[in-house]
Amino acid sequence: MRKKCANTEKTGVLCSRKRRLEMDIRQIIEKMTLREKLAQMVLLVQCYQEDVFSDDPGKREFMREASKKYFDIDDPQDVMNTGGAIFVDGAEKAVEIQKKHLEHDRNGIPMFFMYDVIHGYRTIFPIPLALGCAFDPEPVETMSRISAKEASVSGIHIVYSPMLDLVRDARWGRVMESTGEDPWLNSLLARAFVRGYQGRSFDRPYTVGACIKHFAGYGAPVAGREYNTVELSEYSFMEFYMKAYAAALDEGAVAVMSAFNAVEGVPCSVNGKLLKDYLRGELGFDGFVISDWGTVGEQINHGVASDETEEAELAIKGGLDMEMYSSLFVRKGEQLVAEGRVSENDIDAAVYHILSVKEKMGLFERPFGWADQALEKRFHLCAEHRNEARRIAAKTFVLLKNENGILPLSKEEKVAFIGPYADTGRLFSRWGSKGRTDETATVKQGVSAKTRNAIFCNACDFTEAGSLDSGAAVSAAEQADKIVLCLGENEDMCGEGASRAFLELPKIQADLFETVRSLGKPIILLLFGGRPQEIRRISESVDGILCVWLPGTEGGNAVADVLYGDVLPEGRLSMSFPYTVGQCPVSYNCFNTNRPAKDNDRCTSKYIDIPNEPLYPFGYGLGYSSTEFSDLRQSDAEMNGSIVFTVNVKNTGGHPVTETVQLYIRDIKGSVVRPVRELKGIGKITLLPGESGDVRIRLDEKQLAFWHGDGTYAEPGLFKVSVSKNSLDVGLETFFELKKRN
Ligand code: NOJ
Repeated sequence: MRKKCANTEKTGVLCSRKRRLEMDIRQIIEKMTLREKLAQMVLLVQCYQEDVFSDDPGKREFMREASKKYFDIDDPQDVMNTGGAIFVDGAEKAVEIQKKHLEHDRNGIPMFFMYDVIHGYRTIFPIPLALGCAFDPEPVETMSRISAKEASVSGIHIVYSPMLDLVRDARWGRVMESTGEDPWLNSLLARAFVRGYQGRSFDRPYTVGACIKHFAGYGAPVAGREYNTVELSEYSFMEFYMKAYAAALDEGAVAVMSAFNAVEGVPCSVNGKLLKDYLRGELGFDGFVISDWGTVGEQINHGVASDETEEAELAIKGGLDMEMYSSLFVRKGEQLVAEGRVSENDIDAAVYHILSVKEKMGLFERPFGWADQALEKRFHLCAEHRNEARRIAAKTFVLLKNENGILPLSKEEKVAFIGPYADTGRLFSRWGSKGRTDETATVKQGVSAKTRNAIFCNACDFTEAGSLDSGAAVSAAEQADKIVLCLGENEDMCGEGASRAFLELPKIQADLFETVRSLGKPIILLLFGGRPQEIRRISESVDGILCVWLPGTEGGNAVADVLYGDVLPEGRLSMSFPYTVGQCPVSYNCFNTNRPAKDNDRCTSKYIDIPNEPLYPFGYGLGYSSTEFSDLRQSDAEMNGSIVFTVNVKNTGGHPVTETVQLYIRDIKGSVVRPVRELKGIGKITLLPGESGDVRIRLDEKQLAFWHGDGTYAEPGLFKVSVSKNSLDVGLETFFELKKRN
């Protein structure tokens, strides 16, 4: 336990917190009444907590009624010692609520303030799926560090990030919140998120706790339908889906959010095998588990409980420590203990998990965290953060097509930017909670800052809700040498609750495309959105495609930087673009099957109407120049079992280029089927025209290990290594043998 009581004076909370700090958490728990413990296990929505303390008699009366209704409690102040609140808005409010809370809480336990900070707080960065495309932990760590800085000075202690659900099905709207389809890349980035948010120590200013989500397997809903059941074999679950969560926990993430879905027939929030045996037992997690929103109260719907009391019982017994939004623990907990259905030891364990994170994060010493109104003004959306958002956004753009070097654009040529994204600040997802469209750099603003030779015309809205102004589109296009069509999904068409069965552009945008195409001018598709969309038909008739996702506050400036060649495109797809939606779910790291696809052989594993391969595979992305790989070398195995692979990369085109070298392995024979390819390493190099250089990638023996049920280990034998430009590119190949250990 920490001994200091740093900002006691500043807060005016002169109760005996210091003395309490000297006690062990268990002693605090011993002194708590059962009701106080149960309230600690609840996270309220802000308005409730705020109004409990209101000086306004009207609000207090409202709270009295609400308390009765939601908590079955006569005096709202009975729930003042709740564990925390979500959506508390800003430093002033956070400090005010915490102060009042501590004045009233006889145990002196500060509240947690939590928030959905997913890709930025006030300065909004690209969506996580885009961040995955940087194929680099640095932008993720920087984004998280800046988000932590902005959120922490607004009083937030815990962010609901990173979302570490592996995704393969573009129909699911929440793929935008994931870093993609690859367990190795997701794990690398999971660690970067946690490092960025939590820093090296919670004693360092502007750190927040990371709550990883959604534990577990939420990214694989059957048929891509939101909140649907997840059906995965234990092998796939452990090999693909679990890895990023485990990596984040290993990096020290302090909290876990349980998922809405069921796995193996048991809803995650009441799943003891998952939350107790695996999460705590095998992964050694010692933080707290919080439910996703009111999902404790959704167990009747799942069909595993018959009333609210049983819902609370299952959740507590299943290992859930805190419920978000709902209040079943407070309302039903005393009854459950009285009837002997839940033991007070289980309650104590949950409270211990919550309090130990509060202690670890220094809340007893600094209940206000880093909340500071002056710093909010200084940090929020400051020039440094905006510059980083611009730099990082550009790194996430993926050049999918560039016929005859149509890109980069020249500042001298006349370009028409047409489509709903040509001039809009709607460049972030619905999780860009504190972002504002009027503070966001639009494409028009970004491009206009570089050249006067551009014209802009939205021509239509994102969906059929509006009408298409073909006249304006044609007139803009006719004045230009090249056309940049700014199309795609907006924030309402992706994210939570936005599963789609059709992944093509909305009809109004497809009509705009046809109108402009009929003019026969060169077209570049500037594709926005939160998921891989179905762009096969369009891709055939455009000359260039730059996928820019939902790029955030500095989106328009970053787009202009890359389109005009001031910054090189270097993104690689973190998720495959399906050939058509009928391929979903699709990912590169599949198994070979008994009959791998063969041309002219009907009875092999394939479709009769489309290729097996996605339109653009995982890892795909072009530069403004071409490259060639040669001279693949492999070192002898080092003492620790690692091997270094070195490849020479040459820029063979006329522009500078940043290449991402990708190292894939294939375990040729295993005791179970193994993926045809698995990413295990990446290396980046930037080269001027004609220049060449070596890229070295280290492969550790532990990266060859896989889940066996009785442990995770590698099987000796032959491995193929492919050093390539993407997951479908053959690249350069070599083999090595993992020797049997004596
Ligand atoms: C529900 C979402 O599934 C989760 O990701 C989010 O953190 C919570 N709501 C809180 O807003």
